[in-house]
Amino acid sequence: MKLSSKTAKKMLDDALGKTPHDGWIKHSICVGDAAARIAKALNLDTEKAKTLGYIHDIGKTISFQNHVMDGYNLLKQKGYDEEYCNICLVHSYLNNDVNCTAGGIPKKIPFRTQFIQTHEYTPYEKIINLCDLLCTNRICTLEQRLIDIMVRRGVYSNTVYHIKEAYKLKEYFDNLLGYNVYNLFPEIKENI
Ligand SMILES: [Fe+2]
Repeated sequence: MKLSSKTAKKMLDDALGKTPHDGWIKHSICVGDAAARIAKALNLDTEKAKTLGYIHDIGKTISFQNHVMDGYNLLKQKGYDEEYCNICLVHSYLNNDVNCTAGGIPKKIPFRTQFIQTHEYTPYEKIINLCDLLCTNRICTLEQRLIDIMVRRGVYSNTVYHIKEAYKLKEYFDNLLGYNVYNLFPEIKENI
């Protein structure tokens, strides 16, 4: 079953006030809106990019700690197509590696490790990977976001690895666009 950005937004609106904090809801809207802007610049499907951004952290309606698997399972149970379920699973991991993530080495979940290793990331998934790293609850620079995560979640053995791959991901999009991805977000200047 397809998921629309309208339905995804309603899921976020319905979650307001029902989780330990609402910060992730504004963040998800930021990710979806930023993803749509990048998709438009690359002549991709803006509605799909927006929907995937809105939905990527939906597992937080179940648990913060395990939101990746919870989001994947929630959307599967509801009967949504693979691409919507998969974004919950892949959004935090760069370089086809579960260890390439913020907040330390994740706990071992063989299904997830195997999935991330063998999955070919779609252009939309790469956009969400990037936008997740360009949004706190508003659009910001990669550096601001990485520091925001480190301040909240700490610095670990894999932090430098994750930062290096995050820079590579931004560079990938800068090259694809032919200009700095920040040019799509002039409002970043107000947020620095
Ligand atoms: Fe996120």
